[in-house]
Amino acid sequence: MMHDLSGNLINYWYAAGLSEDFPADKPVARTIFEKPLVFWRGKDGQVTAILDRCNHRNAPLSKGKIHKDCLVCPYHGWTYDTNGQCVDIPSEGPHVERIPNKRVEHFPVTESGGLIWVWMGKEKTPTNQPFDMPVMKEQGWRSYYMVTKFNNNVTDLVENFMDVPHTVFVHKGWFRDKKQICIKAKVERTSDSVLVTYDQPNDSIGFSGWLVNPKGLPMVHTDNFYMPNNTRVDYIFGETERGFIICSTGLYVNYL
Ligand code: FES
Repeated sequence: MMHDLSGNLINYWYAAGLSEDFPADKPVARTIFEKPLVFWRGKDGQVTAILDRCNHRNAPLSKGKIHKDCLVCPYHGWTYDTNGQCVDIPSEGPHVERIPNKRVEHFPVTESGGLIWVWMGKEKTPTNQPFDMPVMKEQGWRSYYMVTKFNNNVTDLVENFMDVPHTVFVHKGWFRDKKQICIKAKVERTSDSVLVTYDQPNDSIGFSGWLVNPKGLPMVHTDNFYMPNNTRVDYIFGETERGFIICSTGLYVNYL
């Protein structure tokens, strides 16, 4: 199974969707690393994720109902708490002694930057943090998410988001113009990130430059990649905190 063959790629947080896609009143199904997962929101707003397969007869729990912070299987009503522990088997009546060994796999979840993130790692305790979406809700900045379906793999998308030379061809006339000039770039690497800083203060981002940089201040352009599937491209103008930042992360196949 893909989850078992993923090596170190599995040991990161993955975005399961926008916060607003996880309502308080119904479970949500996602498939990540070929694992079917079900998410639901408790009364306190916290989101839980467990395997979307009932321990009894493998029914998809995502077709069930939320009841008192627990998830009730649609087939025979086995009920799971926020740790994936079965807490009720209706056909057993009050005889609960069989329940403790009935549970489904549980996955850590966190909510940050307007996204729901799930930890798919082999270690059940997360060893890192989800990608930090910059300037979300910071005063003076506006931000929004755009969800787009691409018929391609994540590696090609990450390369595209950080690929400067294609802009003068694919986005000809509205992003950059073709120029034959030599640009210096500084490349910094860590074990799970790459940061490139371009030394080109006169660079511009085309038609929108007049809008986001009306005074034509010198621009600092940086491209960042963060494992496993996150990119961040910054265009910051002058010494100000004014700028334009584009981030991307992967969502998964049954999202759209
Ligand atoms: S399959 Fe879920 S309760 Fe039977």
